[in-house]
Amino acid sequence: MAGKERLARIGLIGLGVMGANLALNIAEKGFRVAVNNRSPGRIHALMEQAGDLAANLVPCEDIGSLVSALEKPRAIILMIKAGKAVDQQIEALLPYLEKGDIIIDAGNADYHDTRRRARALAERGIDLIGMGVSGGAEGARHGPSIMAGGPKRAWDAVRDVIEAIAARFNGEPCAALVGPDGAGHFVKTVHNGIEYADMQMIAEIYGILRDGEKRPANAIGRLFEAWNEGPLQSYLIEITAKILQTRDPETGEWIVDVIDDSAGQKGTGRWTVIEALNLGEAPSAIEAAVDARVWSAMKAARKTGEEIYSPQKDFAPALLEADMEKALLAGRIIAHGQGFSLMRAGSEAHDWDLDLEVIAKIWRAGCIIRSGLLDEIAAAAHEGLPHGQLIFAPALAARLADGRGALRRVVSSAMLQELPVPALGAALAAFESLRQGRGTANLIQAQRDFFGQHGFARIDGAQDQHGPWA
Ligand code: 6PG
Repeated sequence: MAGKERLARIGLIGLGVMGANLALNIAEKGFRVAVNNRSPGRIHALMEQAGDLAANLVPCEDIGSLVSALEKPRAIILMIKAGKAVDQQIEALLPYLEKGDIIIDAGNADYHDTRRRARALAERGIDLIGMGVSGGAEGARHGPSIMAGGPKRAWDAVRDVIEAIAARFNGEPCAALVGPDGAGHFVKTVHNGIEYADMQMIAEIYGILRDGEKRPANAIGRLFEAWNEGPLQSYLIEITAKILQTRDPETGEWIVDVIDDSAGQKGTGRWTVIEALNLGEAPSAIEAAVDARVWSAMKAARKTGEEIYSPQKDFAPALLEADMEKALLAGRIIAHGQGFSLMRAGSEAHDWDLDLEVIAKIWRAGCIIRSGLLDEIAAAAHEGLPHGQLIFAPALAARLADGRGALRRVVSSAMLQELPVPALGAALAAFESLRQGRGTANLIQAQRDFFGQHGFARIDGAQDQHGPWA
């Protein structure tokens, strides 16, 4: 039996790039971490890669030895593919665990699965933390943003480790217990939805510059680089600038020009939209980004479409760079607003009491959507969002007042140039709809009543009225 001093503080199963990097991050922060992987080759590879950090790694070739290498309560991070593999891994662990032990699912799980697993594990006295981890491979190694959901006692047992490995913003760790059971994975899903929208809107501006203005990739990259010094500052703008100025070693072309234009997706963007629609939300910019990925994958159909519909280009006014910058910022604010509104709705539906300020704060560093804007959003969330809408918070409203004209000019110009801007267009449509005190649904109500006698409310307050339809 190993002595107490030799026991590891935490376990980690799954040594893909994310898992291996997370293990190194934990070891670097001075915690002993027991590691296991289904195929042992990766365990050996990690031990070799670890250098001095190997002293804090305990390689375990099977689950039993991993569990017995841990201090109690045993806390085990799973960094494996979301879905069935997580259920199988939990099944395999259960015979070795006892009451009070903690499983931490650090993958991009569907939060409904996390809720189901949390309930089943709770019956056996085992706590589940559903932990959203954002930041890619670099983040995992040097500081991700961490959104945890689960019982407070489980969080308290691992909090020091999780906070130590997380990114920092002004010295504060970008890690929090955002709520119980599935709350962490829900928040991570919404993060990814916003990530989709932000990426898509950046790609749309790139499209206007490439196809409308015929600028080469590196020139567009330089523009993004300049924008990254201003209010658009963010990780995604920063990497876009770098990507656009990178050459393909094989052909010497700009690398974006040799990359196929069909985007993949693993599901979190789609889940965000499905969840939002189920909760009665309208995440139009996020949905447009998911749609755009779907269209991007229809390469053959798009080629046919190009043959059938030859260009009919109309006059389009030239766009100013400053307008594109402001339009992108306006779109970003609106997409974040949709994500935050969705989190409020999810919180109410599940009684999670999500603190939107805390969530904005832990997104300020480490995660993929980190940006200067999130600090402003955190401050706005602290003040409270009128009608739950970020775009009505005074600081963001001032930015939108400044950017709305630019958003309209960019969207309308792109449309006249026959360039698709689904996410920016959807963001603009949402904005115009939410600033229209008198909308057009009076006619919808009349139509519903005409064909289905669904009834309508009158503006004088009378409810359940019917029209004198002939
Ligand atoms: C992150 C990312 C990460 C992953 C996405 C990509 O926050 O670190 O969101 O989780 O890169 O899941 O998702 P798609 O493959 O669907 O684009």
